[in-house]
Amino acid sequence: MTEAATPETVYKTDTLIAEDIESYLETHQHKSMLRFITCGSVDDGKSTLIGRLLYDSKMIFEDQLAALESDSKKSGTQGEEIDFALLVDGLAAEREQGITIDVAYRFFATEKRKFIVADCPGHEQYTRNMVTGASTADLAIILIDARKGVLTQTRRHSYIAKLLGIRNIVLAVNKMDLVGYDQKVFDDIVSDYQNFADEIGIENFVAMPISGFKGDNIASLSDNTPWYQSASYWGKPLIEHLENVELDNSRNQNKSFRMAVQWVNRPNLDFRGFSGLVSAGSVKPGDPVRILPAGKNTTVSKIVSFDGELEEAVAGQSVTICLSDEIDCSRGGVITTADDPPESADQFEASIVWMDDEALTVGRSYWLKLGPQMVSATVQEPKYTVNVNTMEQLAAKTLELNEIGVAQITAEKPVIFESYNDNQALGGFILIDKMTNATVGAGMLHFSLRRAQNVHWQETDITREARASLKNQKPAVLWFTGLSGSGKSTIANLVEKKLHRMNRHTFLLDGDNVRHGLNKDLGFTDADRIENIRRVGEVARLLTDSGQIVITAFISPFRAEREMVRNMIPDGEFMEVFVDTPLSVAEERDVKGLYKKARSGQLKNFTGIDSPYEAPENAEIQIDTTKMTPDEAADVIVEKLLG
Ligand code: ADX
Repeated sequence: MTEAATPETVYKTDTLIAEDIESYLETHQHKSMLRFITCGSVDDGKSTLIGRLLYDSKMIFEDQLAALESDSKKSGTQGEEIDFALLVDGLAAEREQGITIDVAYRFFATEKRKFIVADCPGHEQYTRNMVTGASTADLAIILIDARKGVLTQTRRHSYIAKLLGIRNIVLAVNKMDLVGYDQKVFDDIVSDYQNFADEIGIENFVAMPISGFKGDNIASLSDNTPWYQSASYWGKPLIEHLENVELDNSRNQNKSFRMAVQWVNRPNLDFRGFSGLVSAGSVKPGDPVRILPAGKNTTVSKIVSFDGELEEAVAGQSVTICLSDEIDCSRGGVITTADDPPESADQFEASIVWMDDEALTVGRSYWLKLGPQMVSATVQEPKYTVNVNTMEQLAAKTLELNEIGVAQITAEKPVIFESYNDNQALGGFILIDKMTNATVGAGMLHFSLRRAQNVHWQETDITREARASLKNQKPAVLWFTGLSGSGKSTIANLVEKKLHRMNRHTFLLDGDNVRHGLNKDLGFTDADRIENIRRVGEVARLLTDSGQIVITAFISPFRAEREMVRNMIPDGEFMEVFVDTPLSVAEERDVKGLYKKARSGQLKNFTGIDSPYEAPENAEIQIDTTKMTPDEAADVIVEKLLG
């Protein structure tokens, strides 16, 4: 490296390593690898500690250090402190630029071992980054500022580390230099943490007094804490501990074999292999296996990896498995021991960590991603949330940012799973918002709920096509959406009259009417509106199965639920009709006097006033009621439907 090292060049080199991880790892292939995460609260010195680990391990940073030294000579400054400060600044600068990246992975190595540390960004109050980083970690360093002691965030992160099954915990009491390396300060913090650890069931942790800034007890034992070397303490520096801590690889190897299929390899007609990571157990050519969800048994004919053909694959290895029979299995399928396959289910109890600013919407459908399996799923009202300070279980209606709770989940179709405690790969999932694609929650499945297990779909002899053809029409749903008073009911009513006159079999579902009967138990909270639309969607689906043309007139304010109904109805049969009337116009009309009530505060959660309306972005039909009469609008819709 010839150019002068600025924080940016440090950043660049680090990025290069990140991009070329394969070649980097190859040079260190003989060594074992420890993945770990540092977590803690704001300003606990995380960047400094990571900088210190990289700096003291030196191995991969030789280039950078040389450059840093020449740079510091140029600028007239010298000495280790400056280089170290530059390195830390570089890391911090990168962090600021990468604020939108969930987690940056940094790589370093010592003579004994290579390391990947998940560095989570500045916004430490967000748990998202911590969960992402921790999901693959073997060890967690819980960082504590010696001046502050055990904080709520320390407890939350420890609790999540425990939930995620991280068994090696290091309690690093940092900034010891700022408390005069006081043994009592350290002892008090450790005993405080010990009480908490006992409560949440962390069986073992190792406590160390350190200073990331000064380097005490990082690469070597510090003279500033002679007491740490007495028998009642762990007595080892941090890097030595990281180098020697026992890896948990063996934990999953004694279990039954499981591999989720990440992709299917078919380079030519003679070869068909299923690739993925063996998450538990081991497998050999000739072993009987069961393929899920197909539910068929076969045997393994061959196992291949980058190193060629294998005689055995074990947990932790990425391999391609070939089978003796042609069995249907695509991404998301699971290859498993034939005599002890995992369950599949569509209802579960799970722990969920909520990671989004916007609270969980009960009843809304999110993507549930469990390894390569991806399904639509809804979360019910939490059974409880956990107060991470007291471990109390609290009643809750939803999960807010950073909250951890236990709730029931219903998936649209069965997923192959195991309890997270038994198999992290088949029990850990994330929840993704369907509109924004953001990861909003992370969860751990506990067990399945067997409610739907004995209910099977019953085929009928008269099909929906047969019913529709008797009526001489194509079934459809005309889904009207728009503000209260926008004109939905008026236009929908005209559309039905026109179709009826043309001998079409129709049915009109109107919000105010359905709320008198089927949905009279529902109000106007977000959750109730979602349930309202779900039920109406199901009814509309049944009516299209009977061959009818269904017209619905509901505000249906949320894009996510309109999308959900669209997905329930066969392709091409769902038409969204946006009755686009500006709020000012609807309010001006105020046919039912409700806007006046809402403005005066007599009516809460009124759409457009204190409850949102999300206008459609790609409605099949858009009606501007300020430009056409209801009758003209109805003609446009009928024309488009029968086209
Ligand atoms: S939705 O939001 O769940 O789709 P829906 O269409 O069923 O609403 O019901 C809306 C009708 O309920 C309105 O036309 C209005 O007459 C009445 N209503 C009563 N309270 C409210 C409210 N808070 N917000 C919106 N509409 C309300």
